[in-house]
Amino acid sequence: MRLDKLALIRSSGRNQRWFVISAAIHIVAIVGLILLFTPLKPTTRTVSLIDLGCLEGLFAIEFARLGAETVGLEIRDVHVTKAKFARDVLKLENCAIVRGDMRSIPHELGNFDVVLCAGVFYHLDFPDSVRFLRDIAKRARDLIVIDSHFAYPHIDTSVLPLSSMRPYQFGGRTFMGREWLEHEVGTSETEKKSVPVWASIDNPKSVWLEERDVVGELYEAGFHPVARRFPSPEYERNNPDRPTLVFKRAR
Ligand SMILES: C[S@@+](CC[C@H](N)C(=O)[O-])C[C@H]1O[C@@H](n2cnc3c(N)ncnc32)[C@H](O)[C@@H]1O
Repeated sequence: MRLDKLALIRSSGRNQRWFVISAAIHIVAIVGLILLFTPLKPTTRTVSLIDLGCLEGLFAIEFARLGAETVGLEIRDVHVTKAKFARDVLKLENCAIVRGDMRSIPHELGNFDVVLCAGVFYHLDFPDSVRFLRDIAKRARDLIVIDSHFAYPHIDTSVLPLSSMRPYQFGGRTFMGREWLEHEVGTSETEKKSVPVWASIDNPKSVWLEERDVVGELYEAGFHPVARRFPSPEYERNNPDRPTLVFKRAR
């Protein structure tokens, strides 16, 4: 399907009730997966974690509560304000909330034991997505967790319809992907920042990369896939294109 056709059905509603339930299951599953691979010691703060596109600070705050040294990076002021409020109410000195763009993670934030990318990788355009994977492979000391929609040859409709699968070239390599409409044609830059507050910040479309290309890219950068999970069988039935992938740095 062509991208301009997607615009016509962009606003067709989701099942809101299912969305809330699945989001809750999802959150618990991601926390569980990270705990499985990262032995947190609440008294020593030995683990550092960055939560990219942290929205209202959910994972950054939760892992700070569990004892990690965390950073929540978020591009929209409206979310940053709420995340800081929650962090302050909980008096979490080990949780920094930073306004910034994950396409260029501020250098001064340094490196992290765990890089968590939940629900935001699929908002990136091409080739930002590939540059992003290369960057997080440098910034992650141990674990990369990506919860995302990916493209698959046999899935052409996700939470919303997708474009046809096609090749994209970058740096001498070919990646397969499908496009998804982030903002309807004619949306102003101001509206992009403030109306769909979960979407990309400026790119009108995103490109969902094929899962195996993401795995291949991180593998070449030194990260081995160690887990591929869905929060529940029902979640997998409803979101077959949205696994959570866990990668560990090869020793
Ligand atoms: C769908 S929400 C997911 C939020 C949360 N991580 C979760 O799993 O529930 C995507 C979030 O990423 C933020 N975001 C989008 N593009 C971003 C970027 N380039 N850099 C940082 N945050 C971004 C959005 O503002 C939004 O808060």
